Amino acid sequence: MSRFSEPQDPLFQALNSSISFDFRLAPYDLEQSFAHARMLARSGILAEGDLEDIERGLEQVRAELDEDRFEVYPGDEDIHMAIERRLTEIVGDAGAKLHTARSRNDQVATDVAMLVRAHSLGAQDLLTRLMETIVGLAERHLDWPMPGYTHLQRAQPVYLSHHLLAYFWKFRRDRQRFNFCLNATDDLPLGAGALAGVNFDTGRMFVAQELGFGGIAENSLDAVSNRDFVLDYLSAAATCATHLSQLGAEIVTWSSEEFGFCEVADRFASGSSLMPQKKNPDAAELLRAKAPRVAGRLLTMHGVLHGLPLTYNKDLQEDKEQLFDAVDTVELCLGVASEMLSSISFDRGRLAAAATDEALAATDVADLLVKRGVPFRTAHGIVGGLVRGALERGKALSELSADELEALAPALRDPDADPAYGEFFALLQQSAWLESKVSEGGTSLRRVREQLAEARRLLGDGPGPG
Ligand code: ARG
Repeated sequence: MSRFSEPQDPLFQALNSSISFDFRLAPYDLEQSFAHARMLARSGILAEGDLEDIERGLEQVRAELDEDRFEVYPGDEDIHMAIERRLTEIVGDAGAKLHTARSRNDQVATDVAMLVRAHSLGAQDLLTRLMETIVGLAERHLDWPMPGYTHLQRAQPVYLSHHLLAYFWKFRRDRQRFNFCLNATDDLPLGAGALAGVNFDTGRMFVAQELGFGGIAENSLDAVSNRDFVLDYLSAAATCATHLSQLGAEIVTWSSEEFGFCEVADRFASGSSLMPQKKNPDAAELLRAKAPRVAGRLLTMHGVLHGLPLTYNKDLQEDKEQLFDAVDTVELCLGVASEMLSSISFDRGRLAAAATDEALAATDVADLLVKRGVPFRTAHGIVGGLVRGALERGKALSELSADELEALAPALRDPDADPAYGEFFALLQQSAWLESKVSEGGTSLRRVREQLAEARRLLGDGPGPG
């Protein structure tokens, strides 16, 4: 018997069914059902004999799922109904009692929260591995000079280690964001029922403890409608994917003939079907390209949730494909990034040659004037004129004669302390521009070493809490 006078239209079924994708909730659904059944028995809602049957049946379902021989029937609308259907086939009536004091509404919210928690932990592990790779790479390229860029124009030289470590901090923040998702999934939805609570005095805290939740959702209406943890995960994933994209983009640029700063290992590159000489950094390009896809999942989920009335609405079923795709994309990209960086090689000579452009010392020359009492803005103008004068003469700054310097920037000569522009010429030594960046967080070697020690500490490799 049923409420309906005719079977579902196949077109409606195709739209309504979620089993093709919510299948991957199965391990969480099983774990949840074990805990729910135990709670029912402890609370005197389910007989001990029925619990034994249910546990035995769920074990068999688990085995069938693990061994890939769980059969899905055309009428199985979602994984929750498929598991209950199979359980009842195996153990009979007891299986049909499992859904006592539970609705698919609190059930699915619980499964998804468990999945978000598992993958928030997984993302943190992958990020830790990536952060370790970056620190190792920075240590191996500690004092390799290269140009730092703004607007992709050479700006001031930095050490390659410093440049690489910039990504360490981006990924550290990503790790913190995924850690936040653990708090967001800490309140157990199960026990909220369809929306209003259930007609039994259940023990929700027992279920929470069994499943590793810190507490229970306080409001049943909120519990079944809440998907904030999906938004939080997608938001963390989108930001992380954006960082991976920025990293990928730099590697693509740096791999070009024009830059020639780095080369990815052959196993992370592919060739051209036409041009035999090509080696393309496809992995880095795809890291670059995936970010908008993940951000799109976040945007879609906001679209699904916005304007929804309380409480459960079928719209919520759309959360899964957004979430699963983001999980798969970001986990794959994090794995690739670690492996690609572990095997990348840098060209010390090319990096150094690009960093010998004396124009990169312009700020240092301006600061020399500042130290002699010239206001910074005035010094900026003087050095700007000096750089232009050198360009017009087709000369590097260090090639300018004393007469030319006298004409272009007389303030550079200190008649008493430095009559022969000695400090100016000393400044044009490359290492001087790097080692002058002594401020905290700057690129001088002392500061980079401090940064490395802090990074190691955060990875749990150094002294102090991580
Ligand atoms: N497949 C559904 C989902 O993913 C499960 C919950 C269905 N609840 C309901 N009342 N129809 O959201």
